[in-house]
Amino acid sequence: MRLIAHRGFADEAPENTLAALEHAASSDADVMELDVRRCASGEVVVHHDGTVDRVTDGTGRVADLTRDELAALDVLGSGEGVPTLDEVLDAVPDSLALNVECKEVGVTSEVAETLASHDGDAMLSSFEQAALAEARDAAPSVPTAFLTDSLRNRPVATAVELGCDYVHPHYFLPLLSKLVPRAHDAGIEVNVWTVHSPSIVRLLGLCGVDGVVSDRSDVLGR
Ligand code: G3P
Ligand code: MG
Repeated sequence: MRLIAHRGFADEAPENTLAALEHAASSDADVMELDVRRCASGEVVVHHDGTVDRVTDGTGRVADLTRDELAALDVLGSGEGVPTLDEVLDAVPDSLALNVECKEVGVTSEVAETLASHDGDAMLSSFEQAALAEARDAAPSVPTAFLTDSLRNRPVATAVELGCDYVHPHYFLPLLSKLVPRAHDAGIEVNVWTVHSPSIVRLLGLCGVDGVVSDRSDVLGR
């Protein structure tokens, strides 16, 4: 089963930082998941929340802060600031794939084009269907994943309609439905989020899930 380091194994490293990238690369991860949005000076930066308040020593909206202001912050006491996507792409080793989650529709075309020119393995994911359609138009070669936490969003049918290679449901959904066989019949792989328990991973394995997104590097028990 594929192991995807959520924000770079957020229980073990300062989330969405270069230190987390290094941790994921030196752990058992196959992929690092990270979140991106645009800052005030125009760069695409790696940060989950709309504000910096929860995980840094600063305050304010990412969209109102410049790249330099974000770089000067301290993420979770690591001494490291908020990195740009380009800095992560420059640092990622060939052995680690990336899952770049677009938190805003407005960054998607640029992110898709950036990933298309990246030498390594990288996919783009989003909860936003408009973002995935935009990525498909901007850079058809970049694999995409439809994120959802609801069966009402018709996870597999929507992923097919959007031309996605993956569907990324909340881990409850494959336990409650035939999502995985339906996805596999449609030629789509299933990576679930965010799993903390090895016993849940075993159940998900019985469901045929292809990968799990986790905050913990030991969740597969391997
Ligand atoms: O990509 C899976 C997961 O990261 C989605 O939720 O809020 O942690 O970005 P969130
Ligand atoms: Mg995410």
